[in-house]
Parts: sequence; C-alpha cells; structure tokens
Amino acid sequence: MSSGWSSLVLKNFNEAASTYNGQARLQRAVAWRLAKHCAKQQIPEGLWVDLGSGTGLMANALETCIPQRTVFRVDGCSEMLKLHHRHRPSQLWDLNLGLPPLPGLPTLLVSSFALHWLSNPQDQLKEWLAALAPGGLLALALPVHGSFPQWHHAAAAAGVACSAMPLPSQSSLLDALPRHCIRYQQLHHFTQQSAEVFSLLRPMRQMGAQSSPYPALGVANWRRLAQAWPSHQKDGVAELTWLIQLLLIQR
Ligand SMILES: C[S@@+](CC[C@H](N)C(=O)[O-])C[C@H]1O[C@@H](n2cnc3c(N)ncnc32)[C@H](O)[C@@H]1O
Repeated sequence: MSSGWSSLVLKNFNEAASTYNGQARLQRAVAWRLAKHCAKQQIPEGLWVDLGSGTGLMANALETCIPQRTVFRVDGCSEMLKLHHRHRPSQLWDLNLGLPPLPGLPTLLVSSFALHWLSNPQDQLKEWLAALAPGGLLALALPVHGSFPQWHHAAAAAGVACSAMPLPSQSSLLDALPRHCIRYQQLHHFTQQSAEVFSLLRPMRQMGAQSSPYPALGVANWRRLAQAWPSHQKDGVAELTWLIQLLLIQR
C-alpha cells in the first residue's frame, strides 16, 4: 500500500488520540499479556523500544511488569505521543520508512496492534529482527487474517463489500522468521459481544482504526450488513471475533 495509505492511517489515529484509551479494552488486555510474557524472558541490558506505541498502553505495561526499565516510544502520530507520561523518551516517525535512528542498539523491540497497519508487514518484521542486538527479543501482538468472521459472513450474505481492513496471515508472518528464533507463538481468540452490531464496530472509529483500502459503505449498505450479521438471526446478540497473534522471537 502507498504513502497515501500511511497518511490516511496516521491522520485517523491522530484525530482519535483523545478517545483511544477509553475504547482500547482489547488492546490494553493484550498489552498486559505480552508484557507478562516479556517479563519471563532473559532480555539483555540495552535499549527497549515500543514500535507504534500509540498512547503508551504497551510501553506502560512493560514498565509496570519489569520495573527499572524505561521504554523508548515510537509512533507516527504526534497527538498519540503527547499522551505519554512526561519524561518518557519518544520519537515521531513513520515506520513505513523503516526504523528511526535509535539512541542505541535495541535489545527489546515490542509492538502491539501496529504492524498490520504498515504497508509491508513481512519486510518490516525482517528489518526489526535484523536490527536487534544479539540475544535481543522481538515481541509482537497483532490481529491476523481470519479475524472478524461474522463481518465477512454478513457482507457475503448481504451482497455488500466487506470493508474490514485486510490483515496479514499467520503463515505469512511465520514464513518471514527463522524457525529456530521463535521462542513463543500463540493465536488467541477474543470475542466481543453487543446487542447492536454498530456498537461492535463504532469503537474502531473512536480509536482511529477505521482506515480501509476499500470504498466506504453507504448508510443503506451498513443497514443491510447489520441485518445479515449472523447472531441477529439467533438470540439477538451480535459478536465480533478477533484472532490475535502473539510472537516472541529471539535474535
Ligand atoms: C491500534 S494503535 C496501537 C497502539 C498501541 N501499541 C496499543 O497497543 O494501544 C496503532 C498505532 O500504530 C501507529 N501507526 C500506524 N501506522 C504507523 C506508521 N506508518 N508509522 C508509525 N506509527 C504508525 C498509529 O499511530 C497508532 O498509534
């Protein structure tokens, strides 16, 4: 995807910075889970960096789980970076340009809910791994292909386009990595529920995560989509399932 895509993604996240934390329950839970996995690893002394740090949920969870460590935060949105704790080092940077100049050799690169927004996740993944100090750790969490089955099903049933953001497949990520470097990999299913389909999808906009390479659906098509949502034909509770890939990779 192009630099126009990067600008759109960053514009939407910038505009949603003030409402992000209020909606990011899944992102917060996943950040804690990944931070706890990192806390169990032997990570050499050195620079720790959160790539696509947003408002700091991941970096903050890491600093809480592993005290005495300060995490350097990198994001392409100035409004997101403004919400970080004062005195935390940060860098405004478009990660589609590769890694920014860093103040040292990283021994931990962590990234949660960010890699899939980049134009070429596989290439970024390889670059991030190669940038680590020997023995360093790359810790990742991101949604992967297979997420949102209810949305895809409803779109097909309603005969409208599915405008969900395309996600990298689990295998495309694993194929980009030398097998012997993978310390942990797990696919987690998280299902959100609501009485109303739009209550499942609205938070994405309030978090700035509504960017899609597909044309926007009109109001009539959104209504058809909601009516075709699978659970609406059962007990009236709508569900949205995320597949979240967790990965720990050691250089
Ligand atoms: C869904 S948020 C996740 C934020 C945080 N890691 C968390 O778990 O809450 C995605 C973040 O990736 C950042 N991002 C997306 N594309 C980016 C790019 N090209 N360069 C730098 N940051 C980017 C956005 O600005 C946003 O803060």
